[in-house]
Amino acid sequence: MGKLSASILAADLAHLADEVERVEAHADVIHVDVMDGHFVPPLTIGPVVVASLRPHTRRILHGHLMVEAPAALFDELAQAGMDVVSFHVEAVEDPAPVIEKARGSGMGVGLTVSPETPIEVVFPHLEAVDDVMVMSVHPGWAGQAFIPEAFPKLEAVRAELERRGLSVDVEVDGGVKLDNARRCVEAGANVLVAASAIFGAEDPAAAARELKAIVEAA
Ligand code: DX5
Ligand code: ZN
Repeated sequence: MGKLSASILAADLAHLADEVERVEAHADVIHVDVMDGHFVPPLTIGPVVVASLRPHTRRILHGHLMVEAPAALFDELAQAGMDVVSFHVEAVEDPAPVIEKARGSGMGVGLTVSPETPIEVVFPHLEAVDDVMVMSVHPGWAGQAFIPEAFPKLEAVRAELERRGLSVDVEVDGGVKLDNARRCVEAGANVLVAASAIFGAEDPAAAARELKAIVEAA
């Protein structure tokens, strides 16, 4: 099942509930970029904002944790209403106990890989996760250009999941636009994450509808 995940990083955060409402007819997931000013330079959204948003949408809230100490946030995020968390493999020594900790907090869990990181580092954990997110830009900012080296990584993780018969979501995050979305899906992504392509568009609802149609057709 193809899904669209709308990243609120490019939304007008002063009107967050309205921004989400505009696109949620076509977005299956709301992607929340949590940045701590250490793992990446920017500082963004944390549990307080998630708790404010929670009553305004029934969509899945998926936290993309670009933080140095992801496990320290799990309980608070879960209490705030986050459904799924993905953390960066680069941020932890051993993902296994961190995956367990997220499950213990009652959330779904995924692993994210930055552009420099080989996708094979997630392979030992595929049985333990719900989601693998391949970054196709450097974490930290919306509006960057898509890095095409993400395509072979999507292909490799999709092939490995198929080989093992696992149903794990494969997401692509960063620089996803109408003109490269199909290629992402063909490479193996079943979840497209998009911020600027949706919230930077003149008509965010129409942009979300078009992206959703591409990922759904796959
Ligand atoms: C970048 C974030 C992405 C970002 C995508 O660190 O993880 O989710 O919001 O933005 P676009 O779609 O504009 O590249
Ligand atoms: Zn993200």
